[in-house]
Amino acid sequence: MIEELGAGDARSVVLLWDEAGLTRPWNNPREDFLQAVKGSSSTVLGVREDGILVGSAMVGFDGHRGWVYYLSVAKAFRGQGYGRRLMSGAETWLRARGAKKVQFMVRRENDEVIDFYTRLGYVPQYVQVLGRRLD
Ligand SMILES: CC(C)(COP(=O)(O)OP(=O)(O)OC[C@H]1O[C@@H](n2cnc3c(N)ncnc32)[C@H](O)[C@@H]1OP(=O)(O)O)[C@@H](O)C(=O)NCCC(=O)NCCS
Repeated sequence: MIEELGAGDARSVVLLWDEAGLTRPWNNPREDFLQAVKGSSSTVLGVREDGILVGSAMVGFDGHRGWVYYLSVAKAFRGQGYGRRLMSGAETWLRARGAKKVQFMVRRENDEVIDFYTRLGYVPQYVQVLGRRLD
């Protein structure tokens, strides 16, 4: 069952993200997680197997669109539908808040994951994302 995670899950979530290759030295994953779980327009969804966290997805609604970050399933549990269920959970969470669209960014070096998203019905949005750090 997909559930909303809380501050007490920080350690296991960061281990999961690390194993999935999603953490980067310039981000603090623990802070990212804690900020998302305490905000009213964001959450981190998780799924457990025998009490162990095996998948998670950070979800946020910016008032216009829904965003998903850090989608990850533990290596030993991939190919069993957890990723699909987490994305479906993210869509349900966003729809309940009035979001009409969900989107996410995929790092160029992670091209292989595109086939997974295609299976779920996602299609490329031909935009370039620009950004700069504020910290
Ligand atoms: C991407 C990820 C979350 C997929 O999780 P998963 O639990 O293995 O995916 P599912 O089992 O729910 O797969 C759903 C569908 O996608 C397909 N699929 C899964 N991974 C795939 C892949 N690498 N290539 C092609 N198809 C894939 C499955 O066959 C399944 O198809 P079907 O249901 O139509 O038969 C997991 O591989 C992962 O954690 N990857 C590393 C982290 C990452 O890259 N996250 C995304 C950042 S943008």
